[in-house]
Amino acid sequence: MTETGKVHSAGMHVHRGEGCECLAADLARAEAILAELSPVDPGDLIPLLQRLQEAYGYLPKEVLAEVSERTGIPLSRMYGVITFYTQFSTEPRGRHTIRCCTGTACHVRGAKDVAEAILHEIDVEAGGTTSDGRFTFENVACLGTCFLAPVVMVDEEYFGQLTPAKARAIVKNYA
Ligand code: FES
Repeated sequence: MTETGKVHSAGMHVHRGEGCECLAADLARAEAILAELSPVDPGDLIPLLQRLQEAYGYLPKEVLAEVSERTGIPLSRMYGVITFYTQFSTEPRGRHTIRCCTGTACHVRGAKDVAEAILHEIDVEAGGTTSDGRFTFENVACLGTCFLAPVVMVDEEYFGQLTPAKARAIVKNYA
């Protein structure tokens, strides 16, 4: 423990005082959500997780542990839901999500080159988040717009008939 530091309840993080973005301070957001939804019905787990993810941008493990303790919903049940639905993430995500289709129609029309161009442009590995927090990149199965192959989605927007050059230009437009 340092002069300004204290170890928060999970005992895994040294709180650095005022301005520290640690989860000890951040649990207030989860508390506010729990208070609003109280009493929490285990059947409302999905909306609860959605609210928590909206608040934090992802689902921090320490927050899930705290919510489990307060609601009595087992952590195993939470993780079962989190791993089933791709909308949930326990890792910090970028401000924008790039979904690159790897389905057959896109694959035969050059999706691999498009993906590589984007990955090179934003400097990240597939499945990762850029160090500046701009993008999370995911390879996904058919996006349902095969007639536009190869297709990439950025957040909720579709971009089709891409070339590596077009794809690079598109990601440059996102801050
Ligand atoms: S295979 Fe890419 S959108 Fe269907």
